[in-house]
Amino acid sequence: MEILLEDGNSSSPNLEYKGVHQAFKDRWKETDDTMCRHSMSFHLHHTVRSDFFASYLYLLETIPLVKLFPVTCEYIQGVKQFYYRAQQFYEGVPASEEGMMGDFVEISNVDLEASRQFLKRFVGPGKAGNHCALDCGSGIGRVTKGVLLPVFEKMEMADMMEHFLLHAHEDYLGDDADRIETYYCYKLQEFTPPKSKYDIIWMQWVACHLTDKDLMNFLIRCKRSLSLNGVIIVKDNMARQGCMLDPIDSSISRHLDIMKSIIYKAGLEILSVERQEGFPDVMMPVWMIAMK
Ligand SMILES: C[S@@+](CC[C@H](N)C(=O)[O-])C[C@H]1O[C@@H](n2cnc3c(N)ncnc32)[C@H](O)[C@@H]1O
Repeated sequence: MEILLEDGNSSSPNLEYKGVHQAFKDRWKETDDTMCRHSMSFHLHHTVRSDFFASYLYLLETIPLVKLFPVTCEYIQGVKQFYYRAQQFYEGVPASEEGMMGDFVEISNVDLEASRQFLKRFVGPGKAGNHCALDCGSGIGRVTKGVLLPVFEKMEMADMMEHFLLHAHEDYLGDDADRIETYYCYKLQEFTPPKSKYDIIWMQWVACHLTDKDLMNFLIRCKRSLSLNGVIIVKDNMARQGCMLDPIDSSISRHLDIMKSIIYKAGLEILSVERQEGFPDVMMPVWMIAMK
C-alpha cells in the first residue's frame, strides 16, 4: 500500500518534511502485508487522515498518533473532541475585542486597516457588488463593524457562540445592528449559507477551527452562496512550516501551501494572496486569501 498525499500538490510544500513523508511511506509499505487492517492503529490513522487529509502527516511530525487522535477525532459522548474543545474554550472567552484578539488586542486597528485595503480590490464596478456580505466566525462583529459595514448595505453574521452574537446586537454594533439581516448561531461545519446571496464572505481566524475536511466542504457550500462576481476571503494564521495544532483552543495553523491545497480541493480559484504586515514577530504570520 502506498500513502498518497492528498494535499492536491504533487510536490511537498516544505522540503524539510520530505524525509519524514518518505519514512512514513516506507514504513507503511513494509507493514502492509502483515498489518491487520482491523488493528486499532490502522483505524486511528485512517480516521485522522480522513478528517485532516492535507495536514495529518505534518501533525504526526510533532504529535504521536496516540496523543493526536484523542484531541482531534475521538468522539466522547457523541462529540468530536476537536470541536468540543473549541466550544469549551470560547465559552470562557469574554464578548469583547480583547476576547476576539486573545493577547493581541493592540494590533486590531492594523489588522482592520489591511483588511479594508484588501477588500477594496474585489468590490466595485465590474467586481463584487456592495449589497450583502456574510461574516463567518464573526464573534462580536469586530470585522463586521470595522471592515464590512462601511462597505455593504446589509450584513449577516455566523458564529457558534450565542453570547458573542447577542453582545453584537445589543451593544457592540450600536445603531448599525439594524443593518444585520440575520445572525446565524451555527457551527460552520453544520451551516449551509443561503444560495446566491453574498457579494463577499469573510472568514477570519475561524478556518483554523475547522478540520481539513469540514473546511473544504464549508468552502464548497460558500461558493454556492456567492452572488455574481462574489468573493470569499479567508484571513488566518498560517504556520511557518507544516501544521501546528493548539489543543487548548482546538485550532490548527496550516502552512499557506497546505491551506491553498484545501482551497483547490474545494474547486475554488485563488484570486490573490497577501501577507498581513505590521504584526509583531512573535505572532504567527497572517495571510489573506481571496478566492471565487
Ligand atoms: C478568534 S475569534 C475571531 C472573531 C472574528 N472573526 C474576529 O476576527 O474578530 C474566533 C471566532 O470563531 C468562532 N468559532 C470557532 N469555531 C467555530 C465553529 N466551528 N463554527 C462557528 N464559529 C466558530 C468563535 O466562537 C469565535 O467567535
